[in-house]
Amino acid sequence: MAPMKTALFSLATLLLPSVVQAVQPIEVQGSEFINSVSGKRFQMIGVAYQPGGSSGFNPEAGTDPLSDANICRRDAALMQRLGVNTLRVYNLNPDVNHDECASIFNAAGIYMILDVNSPLPNQSLNRGAPWESYSSDYLARVFQVVENFKAFPNLLGFFSGNEVINEESVVEVPGYIRAVTRDLKDYIAKQADRPIPVGYSAADVRPMLPDTAAYLSCAIAEEASSKIDLFGLNSYSWCGDASFDSSGYDTLVADFNATTIPIFFSEYGCIEVKPRLFTEVAALYSDQMTGVFSGGLIYEYTQEENNYGLVEFNDNNTASLLGDYDTLQRQFAALDFTKIQSADASATALTPEPCSAELITGAAGNFSTNFTLPSRPSGVDDMINNGVPNAKTGRLVEVTETSVGETVYDSSGNPIQGLAVNVLADDQSNTPGSATGSSSGANPSQTGAAPRGGWMDSAVLIVGALTLLAALSV
Ligand SMILES: *[C@@H]1O[C@H](CO)[C@@H](O)[C@H](O)[C@H]1NC(C)=O
Ligand SMILES: *[C@@H]1O[C@H](CO)[C@@H](O)[C@H](O)[C@H]1NC(C)=O
Ligand SMILES: *[C@@H]1O[C@H](CO)[C@@H](O)[C@H](O)[C@H]1NC(C)=O
Ligand SMILES: *[C@@H]1O[C@H](CO)[C@@H](O)[C@H](O)[C@H]1NC(C)=O
Ligand SMILES: *[C@@H]1O[C@H](CO)[C@@H](O)[C@H](O)[C@H]1NC(C)=O
Repeated sequence: MAPMKTALFSLATLLLPSVVQAVQPIEVQGSEFINSVSGKRFQMIGVAYQPGGSSGFNPEAGTDPLSDANICRRDAALMQRLGVNTLRVYNLNPDVNHDECASIFNAAGIYMILDVNSPLPNQSLNRGAPWESYSSDYLARVFQVVENFKAFPNLLGFFSGNEVINEESVVEVPGYIRAVTRDLKDYIAKQADRPIPVGYSAADVRPMLPDTAAYLSCAIAEEASSKIDLFGLNSYSWCGDASFDSSGYDTLVADFNATTIPIFFSEYGCIEVKPRLFTEVAALYSDQMTGVFSGGLIYEYTQEENNYGLVEFNDNNTASLLGDYDTLQRQFAALDFTKIQSADASATALTPEPCSAELITGAAGNFSTNFTLPSRPSGVDDMINNGVPNAKTGRLVEVTETSVGETVYDSSGNPIQGLAVNVLADDQSNTPGSATGSSSGANPSQTGAAPRGGWMDSAVLIVGALTLLAALSV
């Protein structure tokens, strides 16, 4: 190209808005999640997202919670309004295209933490006989899930297992969880262009909880990648108008005081007392807990038979906010978000302890002290080095449609007007207090983080253009 054309070409490139908005990836530093660009601490303010319950994952129909862009757009708008920055999805079908949904949640500033397993046979570890399910077919599916999502900057991490270790499976299963974690992390190291955290989600079952965390998070020199990067705890001990002490949160904080990796509630939100008050939210993000915990995920977004929902999906293609949605929104909005984001240098510098039998209390009986892990099934090294065959590798797509087509009723039954996804600027994630749409009769709600394309961006573009024009006239 002639110099003149090159310069004009650059000018055009500079003046074009960037095609996709993207959140900044989160990384693990010591016991905290840190925004890899801003250096600020990230605490999860999240919800479990499994519309349709386990039947929402339907391989025959080709559906899973991240397969329908219209539903994702509506739910992204409602989650922005609720104030969450993270969602968790349990069951995903790697044969389905997730690009639109993942891109919509990205544009909304909402991170995703994803389970790599499914309830179908051979699609998770069989806790009774893990050596049978730990196969190359199983790992191929796990790697295909990685391929689906590895390109998305709002991918916060993966769970290699959820509540697999129970009273009867403390002997063999922990080593297999570490083996799957190792294989996942080795695959990511070879096939993804950034480190993506991998962890485990545990039931709050004593006495094996501390041993589970210790076993999975210690360091094995020759199997470094088998260490989990994060630990999720499914906790339902705070019910109704409880307190830090009466809920047992004090015990959790004491038990995990020395954690060297981020720990958070991968599920919380007891329903023994209804309607829920969600007073545990204030406790979780208070000084009493944030030294140890990095937030949590409320169980759960969608109303299912088990009655934990915040939003009801109606048969006529509409959705209704439930009272619990409003209560939770108020609890999130009351948080001091600036404070929540400050990192602690002593916490980010923590390093894991070397694995040894002494780390395991044995309070649960026979909890494994065997740190020799199962070796990989044959064929798996090849997938790790060359990529898994037949994978749908996802990519970020532009989010052009932002307004929500489906009707959503607020908790009083009034349709919410003007509901839309608020596309955030590149460096933003969603924060409590953001909202779009207003119910008929109510004041329009304020919007949250500044949308992309403000005066700063224009100023940068103009300065850039002037610089180029000056260069052209030389
Ligand atoms: C599960 O895997 C085992 C061992 O690879 C195999 O024998 C069995 O047929 C598989 N079951 C299903 C339902 O695919
Ligand atoms: C752990 O407990 C000690 C002693 O009570 C305390 O000084 C320290 O701040 C705690 N660590 C965290 C991360 O809360
Ligand atoms: C859709 O169903 C909901 C719940 O049954 C109801 O409240 C609402 O009025 C229905 N909307 C329409 C347009 O039929
Ligand atoms: C430990 O495992 C052995 C053999 O599997 C079993 O007989 C014993 O009951 C177990 N002990 C406890 C405390 O679970
Ligand atoms: C430890 O686990 C490995 C892998 O499962 C197994 O091969 C080995 O026999 C176990 N060692 C003991 C002492 O049980």
